[in-house]
Amino acid sequence: MKFFLDTANLDEIRKGVALGVVDGVTTNPTLVAKEGRDFHDTILEIAGIVDGPVNAEVTTLTKDEMVRDGREYAKWHKNVIVKLPTTREGVAACKVLSDEGIKTNMTLCFSAAQALLVAKAGAWCVSPFVGRIDDGAWDGVDLVRQIVFIYANYEFETQVLAASLRHPLHVVQCAEAGADIGTMPFKVLDALYNHPLTDKGLAQFLDDWNKAKAQLDKPGKKTAAKK
Ligand code: E4P
Repeated sequence: MKFFLDTANLDEIRKGVALGVVDGVTTNPTLVAKEGRDFHDTILEIAGIVDGPVNAEVTTLTKDEMVRDGREYAKWHKNVIVKLPTTREGVAACKVLSDEGIKTNMTLCFSAAQALLVAKAGAWCVSPFVGRIDDGAWDGVDLVRQIVFIYANYEFETQVLAASLRHPLHVVQCAEAGADIGTMPFKVLDALYNHPLTDKGLAQFLDDWNKAKAQLDKPGKKTAAKK
C-alpha cells in the first residue's frame, strides 16, 4: 500500500518525507486555500520535496474547462496528477485527458457505480472518501472493498486511493480491503507509529542494558557490553 500525505503544508510534507514512508501527496482546494499561497507555486514546491505523485485539483466545472486546466497542470511537473470531481463533466474530462496520457485522480467518489464509471474513462486512480461516508453512518471501508473487488473482476488498471482517512484504523482496514494507496493527514501517519508496548519494551531493554553495563564497567570486571 502506498502512503500519500493529504496536505498542502510544506512543513508537514518535509516531516513526512523525512520519515521515509511517504510515496506522494494529495491536495484539494480547501487544503491549498488553508495555506494562503499561490496554487502553482505550492504544487511545484511540493513536487520538489516528494519524489512521487502530487495531486492538483481543478476548480472548474465544465468538461472543456477541466480539460484545459488539466493539460495546463500536467505541464507544471512530470509528477502532477490532475484531480477531477466525479461528475458527468469530470468523467468526460477524465476520458479526454487519459487518452492524452495525462494521469487523473477522480475525487469525491461515494459509490461503486461512480468508481466503475471512472475506471471505464481510464482514470489513473479513484478516491473513495472513507471518512465522509462514515460521517453519514454508511461504511466507507466497505465501499473500498467493493471497488477493489469490482476492479479485480475486470482487471481495470485504475488504482484505488482510499481518501478521507481520519485515524489509524481506517488505514489498516483499507489496507486489508486491498486499497492501492491511502492518503492521510500528517497526524494520522504519525499516529501509525504509536504503541505503548513498543515504548515500554524499549525502556525496559535500555534499562537492563545500562544496569548490566554499569556492573561490567566496574573496575576489575571484563567489559562485555560495549557501546
Ligand atoms: C482526498 O484527496 C481529499 O483531499 C481528502 O482525503 C478529504 O479528506 P476529508 O474528508 O478529511 O476532508
